[in-house]
Amino acid sequence: MEKLVVKGGKRLVGTVKTSGAKNAVLPIIAASIMGVTPSHFDEVPMLEDVRTISEILKGLGIKVKTSQNNILDIDSTVVDSYEPPCELMRNMRASFFIMGPLLARMGKARIYMPGGCAIGARPIDIHLKGFEALGVEIDQSEGLIEVSAPHGLKGTTIYFDFPSVGATENIMMAAALAEGVTILENAAEEPEIVALANYLNKMGAKIRGAGTDVIRIEGVKELHGADYTIIPDRIEAGTYMIAAAMTGGDVVVENVLPEHQKPLIAKLREAGATVIEDIDNVRVIGNCPLKAVSVKTLPYPGFPTDMQAQIMAMMVVAEGTSRVTETIFENRFMHVEELNRMGAKITTADRSATIEGPSKLVGCDVRATDLRAGAAMILAGLVAEGETRIGDLHHIDRGYEDIVEKLRNLGADIERVDV
Ligand code: UD1
Repeated sequence: MEKLVVKGGKRLVGTVKTSGAKNAVLPIIAASIMGVTPSHFDEVPMLEDVRTISEILKGLGIKVKTSQNNILDIDSTVVDSYEPPCELMRNMRASFFIMGPLLARMGKARIYMPGGCAIGARPIDIHLKGFEALGVEIDQSEGLIEVSAPHGLKGTTIYFDFPSVGATENIMMAAALAEGVTILENAAEEPEIVALANYLNKMGAKIRGAGTDVIRIEGVKELHGADYTIIPDRIEAGTYMIAAAMTGGDVVVENVLPEHQKPLIAKLREAGATVIEDIDNVRVIGNCPLKAVSVKTLPYPGFPTDMQAQIMAMMVVAEGTSRVTETIFENRFMHVEELNRMGAKITTADRSATIEGPSKLVGCDVRATDLRAGAAMILAGLVAEGETRIGDLHHIDRGYEDIVEKLRNLGADIERVDV
């Protein structure tokens, strides 16, 4: 078993480059299923989730080739299955993204219920309701969903009860090859949706309005492959920005689109850190002690739920009482117990956590209970006294490329050890 061992107390200084966005590349790889010619991708983060979805595509008969320098080539000229390998599907919730593309390309799909981080019930009703509206017939039995579009996919207007990121992406992909026009109302507005729409449009799709709450998709008959560069990962970048602030450091995070970081930048400034924005990088100077700030997670452009655990770790060492409210997922406070184990004073009630700071953290054995909770443990370890040993690293590996090397380059004392 491997663990990350972090020895706290180092001030992070230097430059770190953000990798391509996990949440952009996964639906984009799924979308490549619809291209009748090959696609080429740059700035692909080499993460466990990317390997999983690549294996899923291979299981459909698609050729996937990973090269040095974060390059991925996908040749989906031939797709010979509509039934992805069960075990891989169960590994990762994002695997469900292939339902839309398979329906569009093959007219049917047979899919096992997806897994992913256990941060809530994570139903898929919004996806299925959207597919039904496009004319899809759904047959659900224990853990297995069979979908087919015997009369083809038909464009229509769909109002999402909640702006689900995954449902917006899945339905947008299917609608790209549907007959007629599809309008998505109350759609999610995340930058990763804009990235997916841009790739689909390069493939020949006709999508307008991505990044707003109304997306218009005019169906086309065929999509071809395309070259695409994956956008920077705003969550990974945000994690390094918080690391800089918490350690009283001075870090330039490169390959960042500052307009994607507005809520975090606002909170860092409110907490007393200095944030200097440039065209494609952000410099964060931590002016410790930081002040307590309260945060409520919301769909984009609100504060991202994927940064909630990390900002909570920062609040533990900030002066004053802060409150973190989670409105997107119902079970996303698993890091609270782990942070308290290190000496934090956090109480939870319903969907809010109250943090009494500052606490002096002391390193101990903790778990990465989910992907972003794992990032929060690393952040806490960076400022804790002594040694923090983090287990269950597979969660962290799903979403952070080269995190140990990147933090070491900034001066952190962190290593991955076999125990
Ligand atoms: C995506 C991101 C994830 C992020 C989340 C919210 C990817 C690969 N993952 O996940 O990192 O935390 O957006 O920003 O992009 N819901 C339903 N029914 C559905 C779909 C969703 O009730 O059919 C609920 C979910 O349980 C959750 C909320 O809606 O409570 C938000 O989920 P959604 O926006 O769909 O998140 P994901 O696409 O799963």
